[in-house]
Amino acid sequence: MKSSDIRQKFLDFFEAKQHKIVPSAPLVNKDDPTLMFINAGMNPFKDYFLGNKAAVDVRVADTQKCLRVSGKHNDLEEVGVDGYHHTLFEMLGNWSFGDYFKQEAIEWAWELLTKEFGIDPDRLYISYFGGDEADGLAPDDEAKAIWANILSNERILPFDKKDNFWEMGETGPCGPCSEIHVDLRSDEERAKTNGASLVNEDHPEVIEIWNLVFIEFERKADRSLVDLPSKHIDTGMGFERITMALQGKTSSYDTDLFEPTMSFLEKATGLKYEGEYDNKGATFQKDMAFRVLIDHIRAVSFAIADGQLPSNTGAGYVIRRILRRAVRYYYSFLDLKKPVLYQLMGVLADQFKTVFPELHEQREFVGKLIKSEEETFLKTLGSGIERLDALMAKEKATKAINGKDAFELYDTFGFPFDLTMLIASEKGYQVDEAGFDVALKEQKKRSKADAVKQVGDWMVLSDETDNEFVGYDHLSIDDAQVIKYRTVKVKKKNQFQIVLNKTPFYAESGGQHGDSGLMWFDDEKVPVLDTQKENDLIIHVVKSLPANISATVKAEVNSQKRAAISKNHTAAHLMHSALHEVLGTHALQKGQDLNDKKLRFDFSHFSKVTDEELVKIEKLVNEKIRANISLEENRHMSLEEAKASGATMLFGEKYGEFVRLITYDKDFSSELCGGTHVTSTGEIGLFKITVETSVGSSIRRIEAVTATEAEAYVDKEIAELNAIRGLFKNPKKVAQAVEKLQEENKSLKKQLEKLDILQAKMAKAELESNATLINGVKFVSGRVEVDNVEAVKNIARQYRQAGETFFMVVGTEANGKANLTVSLSDDLIAKGMNAGKIIRELAKHIRGGGGGQPFLATAGGKDISGLPNAIDAAKAML
Ligand code: SER
Repeated sequence: MKSSDIRQKFLDFFEAKQHKIVPSAPLVNKDDPTLMFINAGMNPFKDYFLGNKAAVDVRVADTQKCLRVSGKHNDLEEVGVDGYHHTLFEMLGNWSFGDYFKQEAIEWAWELLTKEFGIDPDRLYISYFGGDEADGLAPDDEAKAIWANILSNERILPFDKKDNFWEMGETGPCGPCSEIHVDLRSDEERAKTNGASLVNEDHPEVIEIWNLVFIEFERKADRSLVDLPSKHIDTGMGFERITMALQGKTSSYDTDLFEPTMSFLEKATGLKYEGEYDNKGATFQKDMAFRVLIDHIRAVSFAIADGQLPSNTGAGYVIRRILRRAVRYYYSFLDLKKPVLYQLMGVLADQFKTVFPELHEQREFVGKLIKSEEETFLKTLGSGIERLDALMAKEKATKAINGKDAFELYDTFGFPFDLTMLIASEKGYQVDEAGFDVALKEQKKRSKADAVKQVGDWMVLSDETDNEFVGYDHLSIDDAQVIKYRTVKVKKKNQFQIVLNKTPFYAESGGQHGDSGLMWFDDEKVPVLDTQKENDLIIHVVKSLPANISATVKAEVNSQKRAAISKNHTAAHLMHSALHEVLGTHALQKGQDLNDKKLRFDFSHFSKVTDEELVKIEKLVNEKIRANISLEENRHMSLEEAKASGATMLFGEKYGEFVRLITYDKDFSSELCGGTHVTSTGEIGLFKITVETSVGSSIRRIEAVTATEAEAYVDKEIAELNAIRGLFKNPKKVAQAVEKLQEENKSLKKQLEKLDILQAKMAKAELESNATLINGVKFVSGRVEVDNVEAVKNIARQYRQAGETFFMVVGTEANGKANLTVSLSDDLIAKGMNAGKIIRELAKHIRGGGGGQPFLATAGGKDISGLPNAIDAAKAML
């Protein structure tokens, strides 16, 4: 079976069992501080499991893009070493939200694998949860009994919590699980060793393919387990692994899923992939590099397409590190010194065009971004190698590089440590690994201490799970109730978070800042500092808790601030459409930040936005503002209908089945959006662009202001212009006046230069006429009038060039101070004279000091009247 058929068969099978087939959610997990990337098919449904929200469909199936590169589930270091770990993988999953449970989940999984996919049941083994004393959990005999009706007992194996109790993260939904393992070894091998003894033993050909999780509990921050309101099914089948099993391969890299990128890379490098895993020599290194590249490019490309751009912090940093790991492998083991990943991305975009179209649709943008990341890191590698060479040259005697130096190379210059090790060992140097580890640990400790945020468990006051946002219609309500609250310690300071059953406070999301305002508990006022979102929970951040937390709450949003934010949000929509009109439809939103002061909007575009384009964009937005277009808000539109209407949607956004559509003139701006907006565009008053810059390659940023902030901006600019006008005595055309001044300045400078030359000539002539011969040496001395000591030095140079034997001592006066210059011909220096030493003597006469070279030295002093004495002293010396 082709991989595309396998995927389809899975979805068709569950569709026939009344499952709704949904698209993969974006890889990046917004609004959930416990998770950076989607690491399992169930993540997007977390709220259904926890009971925070009711599921629209109780049976769902999909293929979900997952990344296991950070946090609890991290496979990064395994990738490339073996044939079945990946950074990005597809997880085929079927879910029941409070609907069917163990019986159906188990029977259907078996039916699909053995009947539809035709896997030999003799090659399958089952694991189930054997219980855990610390958690007070008995063995999962129920699952065992269901399996016992299907296959013989010696193929059903108990395992402990580590293997058979699945948890999403440190906290969250969890439960016992049953895994299906497949034995892909040859019949001969199977006859020799019983497959049951190889389950969960890291055997490359006896591997888990499907995990059926019976979600029943929530793991709390204090490690306790709490029963969930309902029981759920969460299954996950590794798509790459099932493909490998069904295509009769022993590594997923040998399946048709990796064929296009593998062949491309073979052509690009002129090397052949040989599938080496065991012998860790040069062939293994080359083959591992192949695997790393064709694996990592998937993670990097899809993450960027889903809106996670490489950066220096958080999730962006994880993506950058994966990309750099790939560069480092092709640089070292495939002998490629030029970007190649961006080309592999193109191959992927074609391959996944129908499954995950988001990559194909943004290929130009993603390609440019990857290429520039590659170029930057290749430069880092180049300069890192130079630094390392210098280090090795320094340590030639000991042939040892200390841990601190290696750490500096890694930490300050971004040079990978394993590369330091490799290059050093090739040249016969030792690297102090232990010292490196110590430095790394210290640094980690420091950054951990900076980032500590301890989140306590929720104190639940009411069973109510509704957490309704009423802030589109109301800015103040007086009948809310606290449903839960908790303490959060940030850098040793306590804050509290409160969840209400309903609230007018908008929680920060989609780039729009959260509301602030007030809550009243009886008569006690509690300021709300910020409002944040965690999955679908709206969390109010407060500094202190009220005395009576159970009181009915009056919640009041700071309406002025909200109004200012809404103006900026609507202006951002208008500008997004204006960008499409002026620059083209490739100018897609890549991030925004909307607060009450300004709006910041990032978008894909490949060159600087010109001044003319900026003027056009601004004009178009202001036109739409003056047209005073009314808001058309559709709060509950089916996603299909919204798509059909041609509304602007964002890549990397997780849209539900129903969406909210914000329109200002359906022919101009129509966007799917959850934010707050003005009722008609006229409220924005005025829109002014303040800055246009670049943020990395292929992304531009525009910052702008609206309403009173725009007014203030214009006022400030005009005031400054008026001040300039005033300085020029109010000319009609101020720019011309500035230009005229600049020209005058230029011609004055030229005149001055001429005068300087003339002065120097006169000074030289005067000195020359006063020159005397003493003991065969031409003594050039006197006091000259020049504005620039440089002129005297110039004269000295001329004497030296003339090649005469000379001793020059010249005094000048500038800004009320005395200057002396001494210069000598080389033959006098050879006889032991030294201008630097002489000037120190002479400087005493002008009450100052100085120094310089043997042939030219200068001194400055306070006493101008001392100049003749200095010259006399020089003459006496001679
Ligand atoms: N959540 C389980 C897993 O990731 C099954 O989907 O393995």
